[in-house]
Amino acid sequence: MQSICTMASRGFNWGLGLFFGLLLSLCSTPSTIGQNVPVPCDVSPSIALDLNQFAGIWWEIVRQPVGTNFCTQINVTVLNQAENNVLIDTTYSNTVTYPWVNQTMNATLTVLNDTEEANGYNFTYWNAPNYTPYTVFKVLDTDYSNYAFICGYTNATDNSTAFGMVIARNRTLSTVYLDSLESESSAKYDNFANGSMTLITQDDTCLGSGADPSTAFTLFYAVFAFVIYQLTK
Ligand SMILES: *[C@@H]1O[C@H](CO)[C@@H](O)[C@H](O)[C@H]1NC(C)=O
Ligand SMILES: *[C@@H]1O[C@H](CO)[C@@H](O)[C@H](O)[C@H]1NC(C)=O
Ligand SMILES: *[C@@H]1O[C@H](CO)[C@@H](O)[C@H](O)[C@H]1NC(C)=O
Ligand SMILES: *[C@@H]1O[C@H](CO)[C@@H](O)[C@H](O)[C@H]1NC(C)=O
Ligand SMILES: *[C@@H]1O[C@H](CO)[C@@H](O)[C@H](O)[C@H]1NC(C)=O
Ligand SMILES: *[C@@H]1O[C@H](CO)[C@@H](O)[C@H](O)[C@H]1NC(C)=O
Ligand SMILES: *[C@@H]1O[C@H](CO)[C@@H](O)[C@H](O)[C@H]1NC(C)=O
Ligand SMILES: *[C@@H]1O[C@H](CO)[C@@H](O)[C@H](O)[C@H]1NC(C)=O
Ligand SMILES: *[C@@H]1O[C@H](CO)[C@@H](O)[C@H](O)[C@H]1NC(C)=O
Repeated sequence: MQSICTMASRGFNWGLGLFFGLLLSLCSTPSTIGQNVPVPCDVSPSIALDLNQFAGIWWEIVRQPVGTNFCTQINVTVLNQAENNVLIDTTYSNTVTYPWVNQTMNATLTVLNDTEEANGYNFTYWNAPNYTPYTVFKVLDTDYSNYAFICGYTNATDNSTAFGMVIARNRTLSTVYLDSLESESSAKYDNFANGSMTLITQDDTCLGSGADPSTAFTLFYAVFAFVIYQLTK
């Protein structure tokens, strides 16, 4: 079962990935007997961040549960001022037949350098023409130069609103490296799954170079993504 689960999450890009997401929901999470039990997001502290090191470009690699955005880039800018010192521009696509449309949502927040924020960062993005729902984001762990583990929720007492996400400096990661990140994160934190988190599309289609929206493949993806979208409503 584990190998099917791993195949389902690794071997396909986002269209099929979404489809196999259904299969994956049948895959059991690893046993935690004899280990520390993974901690839910609402009680995990967001670590102290060295803001200058955290600044720059990040790419979303995997997310659980799967979201509706893909090709997602997060651009963190740190300003040398006390208030409103962190600007976040998140660029993404959410249109399956036109994945290279770049949309940007942005947020501005005040973050203390090198200071643990146990309760995380609760903010809303301006995503024209609306603000997104307030969401608590927590940085659980990062080495600054390769990966970061992020979790969040919109309601602390309703864990069905929680999510886990691996972001990375490289747009795509080797399977071996990603597996090690999922193993490490899932051992410590809820909302991460070992070897079965759904990959977020970060391939050539994000750039629109040579992609042909009229191909049967795109239509196929579109149909499945639509089905999944309806199911997750
Ligand atoms: C990230 O945002 C900063 C500030 O808006 C901007 O100067 C920079 O060009 C952006 N980087 C990318 C790769 O978009
Ligand atoms: C979309 O974003 C990608 C990656 O940031 C960039 O390479 C591309 O030029 C952008 N395309 C448009 C039409 O803005
Ligand atoms: C988003 O960016 C625009 C343009 O830079 C800026 O005027 C606005 O204040 C930003 N909004 C947020 C919520 O950061
Ligand atoms: C943030 O904290 C780190 C670690 O203490 C320090 O090296 C860095 O200079 C600080 N940055 C700013 C902008 O204060
Ligand atoms: C986040 O902040 C908003 C606005 O202040 C608040 O309504 C919401 O309850 C907060 N969310 C959480 C999970 O604390
Ligand atoms: C948060 O979740 C709790 C428990 O499910 C629920 O009672 C409460 O109404 C929710 N709060 C909001 C603001 O949705
Ligand atoms: C939410 O919490 C309940 C009770 O602790 C647990 O049984 C359930 O698996 C959790 N759900 C998620 C999605 O983590
Ligand atoms: C990121 O990409 C660079 C250049 O391709 C590579 O040398 C490095 O090993 C990659 N790092 C990870 C963690 O994948
Ligand atoms: C994650 O899965 C791999 C491969 O099945 C296994 O070697 C590793 O021990 C697992 N990690 C955890 C934390 O269960």
